[in-house]
Amino acid sequence: MKTAARIGPVTLWRKKAEGTSGPVVFVPTMGALHEGHASLIRRARRLAGRKGSVVVSIFVNPTQFGPKEDLAKYPRPFAQDLALCKREGVDLLFHPTPEEMYEGDSSVKVCESSLSTGLCGASRLGHFNGVCTVVAMLFQIIRPDIAIFGEKDWQQVAVIRRMVRDLKMPVKILSHATVREEDGLALSSRNRLLSPESRLVAPRIYQALLTALMAAEAGETSVARLRRRLTSDLAVIPRTVVDYAEIVDESTLLPLQKLTPGSAARALVAVQLGSVRLIDNLGISR
Ligand code: PAJ
Repeated sequence: MKTAARIGPVTLWRKKAEGTSGPVVFVPTMGALHEGHASLIRRARRLAGRKGSVVVSIFVNPTQFGPKEDLAKYPRPFAQDLALCKREGVDLLFHPTPEEMYEGDSSVKVCESSLSTGLCGASRLGHFNGVCTVVAMLFQIIRPDIAIFGEKDWQQVAVIRRMVRDLKMPVKILSHATVREEDGLALSSRNRLLSPESRLVAPRIYQALLTALMAAEAGETSVARLRRRLTSDLAVIPRTVVDYAEIVDESTLLPLQKLTPGSAARALVAVQLGSVRLIDNLGISR
């Protein structure tokens, strides 16, 4: 595995990859890699095959963190991450510093102005501009044929797809199913920040989503009723403040009134559990 902290060597590597016949498949991350990331990387490896290449980036992107968010606290276990990438057959690991990525007087941003306004965007102002900007930069540097994103961050995938569509970026975006702990909690780098008490009750977030799915499957079509139930199931989890619980069209992220057999609905939730903000989502089509 080749590692690079600077853009120059990546550009040279990419030129060489042009001569091979397989695709360059890219998995952008912020590190603190877990089984969820590993699953994305394995998918990338399968897609790239022996002739293609897998690129992973590890970059804790400062521009997607709000002033009160956990940028400094964000875990950075680099040696472990390196070992995981080697084990999973990554060809190139790009791990730049903020200085390598951002000019001191950088003044251009990529802003998505529709899908990013609600849900996580409502409480994390500027978050998706930071995500779009860094992902666009990473796409420019790595020039992948395919990039893979996790469905755990459903809104993020929707926003990235829109950016790629609107800016005509020559990359195919694939999404990958959420990887969970055995008790249902979606894997997240933030899970390690949970207190033992919070960790114990955290699976109830997924249980609340499953309850909404079961109600929909049992014939409930009123989104208002499903949403009320979902919100109250989340609110009764100890030490939990519900940021949002919404049921939306899975691609436009627009609110729905009713579940219909044709509608592709998704329940998306964000809660503050103790000091940790957790998100999750589940398809609840009938
Ligand atoms: P990060 O949170 O490190 O996540 C990197 C990728 O792993 C994202 O596509 C995310 O959706 C996916 N992922 C995280 N947990 C997952 C799980 N339990 N199951 C499946 N996939 C999971 O998302 C980011 O970093 C950043 O915003 C980034 C896109 C790298 C831009 O900075």
